[in-house]
Amino acid sequence: LDNGLALTPPMGWLSWTRFMCQTDCVKYPKHCISEDLFLEMADVLVKEGYQAAGYNRVNIDDCWMTKTRDKNGRLVADPVRFSHGISWLADQIHKRGLLMGIYSNFGQRTCMGFAGTDLNNIETDALTYAEFNADYLKFDGCFQPENRLNQAYPKMGESLNRTGRSMVYSCSWPYYILTVAKRQPDYPSVVKHCNLWRNYDDIQINWPSVLSIIDFYDANQDMFAKFHGPSHWNDPDMIIVGNQGLTSDQALVQMALWCLWSAPLLMSNDLREMMPGTREILLNKRLIAVDQDPLGIMGKRFKQDNDIGYYRKPVTPLVNGKHSFVFVVFNRAATKTSVTLDFALLGLEEALIYDVVDLVSGEQLNRLTIADTINLEIRSTSVAVLKATPLLLNTNAQRDGDEKS
Ligand code: GLA
Ligand code: GLA
Repeated sequence: LDNGLALTPPMGWLSWTRFMCQTDCVKYPKHCISEDLFLEMADVLVKEGYQAAGYNRVNIDDCWMTKTRDKNGRLVADPVRFSHGISWLADQIHKRGLLMGIYSNFGQRTCMGFAGTDLNNIETDALTYAEFNADYLKFDGCFQPENRLNQAYPKMGESLNRTGRSMVYSCSWPYYILTVAKRQPDYPSVVKHCNLWRNYDDIQINWPSVLSIIDFYDANQDMFAKFHGPSHWNDPDMIIVGNQGLTSDQALVQMALWCLWSAPLLMSNDLREMMPGTREILLNKRLIAVDQDPLGIMGKRFKQDNDIGYYRKPVTPLVNGKHSFVFVVFNRAATKTSVTLDFALLGLEEALIYDVVDLVSGEQLNRLTIADTINLEIRSTSVAVLKATPLLLNTNAQRDGDEKS
């Protein structure tokens, strides 16, 4: 969606995968879907460096609203769990320098049975989100047939636009067609109407779920990459780093591949109690820079050798018109492995010399020429992430020297 928003993939926090639809605030005051939960997450985003690293959104998912519309036909927040209302919550979030996202579902009900948005509610709801001062809408599509989805998603996009308020528009549209109905979505239309979109099943807090998403994206990478770029992003779903359920190596795999894909980085975790070592992964500024690279290219797997997957993404800087590249080598085996990288395998240009940095550690490796190899050991279910930047060609170094003298 060419609305000047989401020029790089959105980053922030989203409630669903970690907190789902817990509405019992008496029994679970710290974990129920309530204004307190979102404010606490906003505070941690600011205090613990997430905001400074780029995670600037606090996004509400399902279960914020009542089961039915109010007497004016409007969506309203649950009066107990959001006693100050959503506009107030947006103000609080904005005061912290963050942005707020809201959620609704096309149809009678949300996926969890709260008030939904039918075709004739779309314009009213877009106005409601603008009045909330929301900055983002995730519009879900549970329980709807394809022809209705194809009507509703463009209509909501246009209605958001007509409010005049800038709101990033996240669609679940192709998910319900490609993965649920097993039919081909009209991606050119999705690109035109949405800033980001889901294609595949919900992520769960476990490693097989992460692997299944990686497999699905690998299998469809050529189709997805074609429709991916600034203001229009494929969304492989939330970052679950920080939760129990992944080892820190597996957490690194998720972060590395989502960054390679230029995927949205919407964490769903409990920022108040993170698994040791995971905050560092989320705040790794070299990996985040790969995700937020202005070219916005979705990296792809170019080789699979038994359990070892090799991925490449063209990134900035361009040196004399030559791209830099990020490489992810993913070992999905139950044991560690050794790999040898060279120009031929990586597809680098023979005439160039590259500077190579290990983006996980920040360590500068040796310069790489056609004659060199890089040997790496990769632990079980882990990755190596390298960036190769072409050095200025000798001829240019010479010319620069001449100009100065
Ligand atoms: C669907 C979406 C999830 C989440 C839930 C909420 O399953 O894919 O991301 O929003 O609905 O009910
Ligand atoms: C258009 C409008 C913006 C905003 C977005 C919403 O670009 O000009 O004000 O409403 O759409 O996506």
